[in-house]
Amino acid sequence: MLILSFPEYHEQAQRLAYSLAVPLDKIYLHHFPDGESLLNLPSALAEHVLICRSLNQPNDKLIELLLCARTLKQKGVQRLTLVAPYLCYMRQDFASHPGEVVSQGIIGELLAGLFDDVITVDPHLHRISRLSQAVPVDNAIALTASELIARFLNQQFDHAILLGPDAESEQWVAAIAGESGFNYGVAEKIRQGDKQVQIVLPELKFKGQTVIIIDDMASTGRTLAKATNMLHKAGAKEIYAVVTHALFCGDAEEYIRQSGVTKIWSTDSISHTSASIYLDKLLARAVEDIL
Ligand code: R5P
Repeated sequence: MLILSFPEYHEQAQRLAYSLAVPLDKIYLHHFPDGESLLNLPSALAEHVLICRSLNQPNDKLIELLLCARTLKQKGVQRLTLVAPYLCYMRQDFASHPGEVVSQGIIGELLAGLFDDVITVDPHLHRISRLSQAVPVDNAIALTASELIARFLNQQFDHAILLGPDAESEQWVAAIAGESGFNYGVAEKIRQGDKQVQIVLPELKFKGQTVIIIDDMASTGRTLAKATNMLHKAGAKEIYAVVTHALFCGDAEEYIRQSGVTKIWSTDSISHTSASIYLDKLLARAVEDIL
């Protein structure tokens, strides 16, 4: 087996390669002035190749995966596994307006046509229960970082309340609460636009408490910032945030910090300064399980 990593995920891929005791090599990328991508793959390959790349900012990355996967198969690679801790386009799973394209299954099928296995972490599956419904490959593996996050929080806090900022976050906050032993509640969120959200807190006593907001991702950061504002108003003593995927688009990080959150943590699914919870062992176990 060989692991190949794209540049922005190389550090994490090194940890995965170390955990699996498998060789690692790099894919070199060049972006032409017109936006096209040129890939350069190593010449020494293996029968089974694992491609590592998280799919935040996904559009160019998807084209590059297509070029890479097709070339590897042409060169005789028998099995291709995609390790994409953040899996893109999973949120768009129904048309909320007439004419809207439902991307989840389309992108899922694209990936299923390129890879024999797809391994990801905490994908945003809301209206379906299994990843294989969106990505129809034999091994469509959706891992969860809940146990790692719970263990991390237990090391930081003796007592805290966990808050899921919307109904969709309940699956993660409930799991982390179960693992950590912390109490939890789930807020109601109304999204009025990409950067406008309203949040109604659940009926819990937040006054004087340490509260940790849990979500699968922060994109514009508006959800975390609004939840933090509401918790301040409710008298919370300190507010922290943990997300699996630190997308942090545009001014997200600054915007969340200005809302008065004490600290933000994330997994290393995406390279970011908040990444404190490493996924390599979780991913390595999943790779070993499919062999
Ligand atoms: C949506 O349901 C997700 O779980 C996140 O809450 C959402 O994507 C966060 O987005 P933003 O950071 O843009 O508010």
